[in-house]
Amino acid sequence: MGLLDRVKQNQTAPPAGPSGNGPATATLPGATTYTPQPAPVAQPAAPAPAPSLSQRSVGAELTPAFTAAKVQIHAKLIEKFADEIDSSNKAGVREKIVELAEEYFRATAMTMTKNDKERLVESVLDDVLGLGPLEALLADPNITEIMANHPKQIYVEKSGEPILSSVTFESERQMRQVIDRIVSLVGRRVDESTPICDARLKDGSRVNVVIPPIALKGPALTIRKFAKEKWGPADIVNRFHSSSPEIMMFLRSCVRARLNILVSGGTGSGKTTLLNILSSFIPENERLITCEDAAELQLQQPHWIQLESRPPNVEGKGAVSIRELVKSCLRMRPDRIIVGECRGGEALDMLQAMNTGHDGSMSTLHANNPKEALVRLETLVLQAGQDLPSRAIKETIGSAIHLIVQQSRLRGGIRRIVSVAEITGIKDGDIQFQELFQFKQVGVNAEGKAVGYHTGTGAIPMRMEHLRAEGEDVSEKLFTPINQPSPDKLY
Ligand SMILES: Nc1ncnc2c1ncn2[C@@H]1O[C@H](COP(=O)(O)OP(=O)(O)OP(=O)(O)O)[C@@H](O)[C@H]1O
Ligand SMILES: [Mg+2]
Repeated sequence: MGLLDRVKQNQTAPPAGPSGNGPATATLPGATTYTPQPAPVAQPAAPAPAPSLSQRSVGAELTPAFTAAKVQIHAKLIEKFADEIDSSNKAGVREKIVELAEEYFRATAMTMTKNDKERLVESVLDDVLGLGPLEALLADPNITEIMANHPKQIYVEKSGEPILSSVTFESERQMRQVIDRIVSLVGRRVDESTPICDARLKDGSRVNVVIPPIALKGPALTIRKFAKEKWGPADIVNRFHSSSPEIMMFLRSCVRARLNILVSGGTGSGKTTLLNILSSFIPENERLITCEDAAELQLQQPHWIQLESRPPNVEGKGAVSIRELVKSCLRMRPDRIIVGECRGGEALDMLQAMNTGHDGSMSTLHANNPKEALVRLETLVLQAGQDLPSRAIKETIGSAIHLIVQQSRLRGGIRRIVSVAEITGIKDGDIQFQELFQFKQVGVNAEGKAVGYHTGTGAIPMRMEHLRAEGEDVSEKLFTPINQPSPDKLY
């Protein structure tokens, strides 16, 4: 499809409502910085009533006048300049749109504030070259997730909480065009026969698309934005209070001493973020291979090979599963393997790799607590279809995994490491573990956010000797239980 066709295809549909001539008043969502929640809270009291969605909504409505102006300017752009539009020259295209916008204002005697004029130009530009209304949300650094439930309802996650945005698509047609543009970036298309697609934007953001007939209310689009700011252990400890310094010190020692670690957690609880942070503790000289469905890990080490699975192409061919990646990477002489997320038969290949000389490997998994993580792992191994007896599976898990770090998204959107559990072996056919650290939630603050503190449980890791033999100076004091701190020290 030529650029002219694409520009035409992306032409904004005329507004549904009457197109008045009043000034457009829409403004972009205001930018506020992502502020970590202040830790100390006076009273762990009952939660304040959550503000209603309308109170919390961000962004602004598209007025009919604004939309009408967009349609006209877009149409003129095609009429006058279609042959000259060069998609690699954004500044040049913008200039042409500005020129046409001025012409439009003169012809219609319409007035608009300078800000709104700029917004109009950007909006036409987004439609011509970009992802339409999503561009503004993608550009807002405070938004971490975009969830379009249907064309007229887009939620965004800001500071850990979902908020209804007043940015909307103009029509289902426009939303479908944006979706088509996104999925075509990965050489795919969505239609009735393949209504689900995972894709990735140029900047690395992860996208999931589901369209009718699977999605009943119209197309649904979810984007996990690629974090431009890379967080380190200090951010997790001091800024977000997701971990205590003691837990982070212990995890650092465990990574360096090559324990196999599983990060468990619910969806969006911060598993991948924590895996990234744990991987930063791996010494520089090791050869690392990452296997992911959508490449999200950003390792710092130079000796790193990054593999990404592939969905089938439009003819249904060429798929490469994460399981195939894990198998193949064993032939690439890795020191450690990092599997972005275990969600199928690759669990078995990863456990076997952990058991056969790739100590220090890591992965994430969806589960709500360490016990569930072990059960889920068993289920995933069964999906590998090797017909292994339950006992053999448990033994494989029991000897492969050393540590489970449980991450949770608590009340108010805060993320915490809520448990660190050490696998201690198999007894009576069951995998045994002991909890070393936990997060004790003691209440909810005035902003409706969970508050509590991290503490050791008093249990001493059975791998203390191993850690020390590996040169890790782990003090037993780290594991001492603490009394509940005063309210100002809770977080
Ligand atoms: N410790 C943290 N404190 C605050 N926000 C966090 C923390 N960890 C992650 N986040 C935010 O939570 C969101 C989800 O993070 P992440 O992708 O790591 O979660 P996940 O559990 O891997 O999600 P999924 O289940 O979708 O793979 C991101 O927007 C990220 O910025
Ligand atoms: Mg993840």
